[in-house]
Amino acid sequence: MPRTLNTDTVSKIGETVTLNGWVHARRNMGKVVFLDLRDRSGLIQVVFVPSELDTASSDLLESVRTEFVLEVEGVVQARGEKQVNPNMPTGKVEVLAKSLKVQNTCETPPFEISQDTSNINEELRLKYRYLDLRTERMQKNLRLRDSVIAFFREYMHRHDFVEIETPMLMKDTPEGSREYIVPSRIHPGRFYALPQSPQQFKQLCMVAGFERYFQIARCMRDEDLRGDRQPEFTQLDFEMSFVTQEDILVYTEAMFLSLVETLFPEKRVSACPFPRLTYAEAMETYGTDKPDLRKNKDDKNELAFAWILDFPMFEKMEDGSIQSKHHPFCSIKEEDKERFLTGRLSEEELLSIKANAYDLVLNGYELSSGSIRIHEQELQRRVFDLLGISKEEQEERFGHMLEAFAYGAPPHGGFAPGIDRVVMLMAGEPNIREVIAFPKTGDARDPLMGSPATVSEAKLKELHLKLDVGKK
Ligand code: AMO
Repeated sequence: MPRTLNTDTVSKIGETVTLNGWVHARRNMGKVVFLDLRDRSGLIQVVFVPSELDTASSDLLESVRTEFVLEVEGVVQARGEKQVNPNMPTGKVEVLAKSLKVQNTCETPPFEISQDTSNINEELRLKYRYLDLRTERMQKNLRLRDSVIAFFREYMHRHDFVEIETPMLMKDTPEGSREYIVPSRIHPGRFYALPQSPQQFKQLCMVAGFERYFQIARCMRDEDLRGDRQPEFTQLDFEMSFVTQEDILVYTEAMFLSLVETLFPEKRVSACPFPRLTYAEAMETYGTDKPDLRKNKDDKNELAFAWILDFPMFEKMEDGSIQSKHHPFCSIKEEDKERFLTGRLSEEELLSIKANAYDLVLNGYELSSGSIRIHEQELQRRVFDLLGISKEEQEERFGHMLEAFAYGAPPHGGFAPGIDRVVMLMAGEPNIREVIAFPKTGDARDPLMGSPATVSEAKLKELHLKLDVGKK
């Protein structure tokens, strides 16, 4: 008999059905046993009355524990008025079991699947992530993530964007964060780098004439972790040609409003259009470039978006060096262009140059960064010069970008909302690990698989690598 999903039983009163799922809870009431069976649609109560069961099933029932995997055949019946459970979507019905098959047993789980696991030790949760993900909250979070991604994909396609996959194995050309590197077997002593974002490839897609690119992009960064940072994360990365900063702001704002309206109608956007502050104003007024502008921080349904504009192009690092604040591909604001092109600049002048770079902030978190880019070779060279990158190094690291700009690169710009942060804030979770299926711990480990791990001598040899690490 074809399988029936638990929640479909409500329209099948009187019919015989076959259910498959996990035992969520077991209650013994004398000879009668009640099992709550869980499947992807939800829970159903199954009643086992000895007189209704064949003997094999009766014997099996004794051994059944929580999280066993079962196949149950039975008849859907309406519950008596007093037995109706209004908190359960299937609370008006139950299934009277006629036969039972155990499809798999289950060891006693390390924590209770029927309870919220927020307070369980995280190492344990991550080691048994496949069990943690069975819990109601985690199922909800990951299904929510799926809806958000599906929404973005559909929205982008509706607005004429093309999804293009860019390489995971690329060249070490740091844009700001430290990259993960991958040794090449067939090119001894050479390495690929994993992308910290598809920044350069998306710009090259503009040179290639796509005009509107997007990607649900996996990014990798070897940086110190925080609640809103993981070594692997996902961006809704997009880029557009022949646009102004205003076009990108308007497009993004409409997209986020539509996301809230479509998937989170219970939430309220506190100010529309989103308030706009310059970086200087934000720093002066709030002492941060990601201010939390909620009127009531206890209201879990308030969403306070804000634009932060006119970021400085350069910043001074702790070690005294000058770096690009966003990345070196941002264009310079028109009013600062003349100064930017002046031969020698004092440090003060350099740090006062502003970029066409913007962030979107939500409830005190940086949700996204973007900019209108440089598309002319000479201007790009000038940024590299000001960053103190020698001509040889410019060719070696960024020659491909400089060359591409010489072949009819259109004016372009883009943005990259972090999907993990969007889902975290919409789900009301305190960190992004709660909305990522298999995240890493705070020190970048995966307790489930045990990564990072050592590799065999033979593998190292094949990769032409010799280790230089002290024995632990
Ligand atoms: P940026 O580096 O600001 O810009 O990243 C854009 C957005 O990605 C998210 N994000 C992260 N999420 C989780 N863990 C991390 N370690 C992490 N790092 C960043 C944030 C952030 O706002 N290429 C540019 C974008 C552009 O210019 O178009 C970029 O990657 O939500």
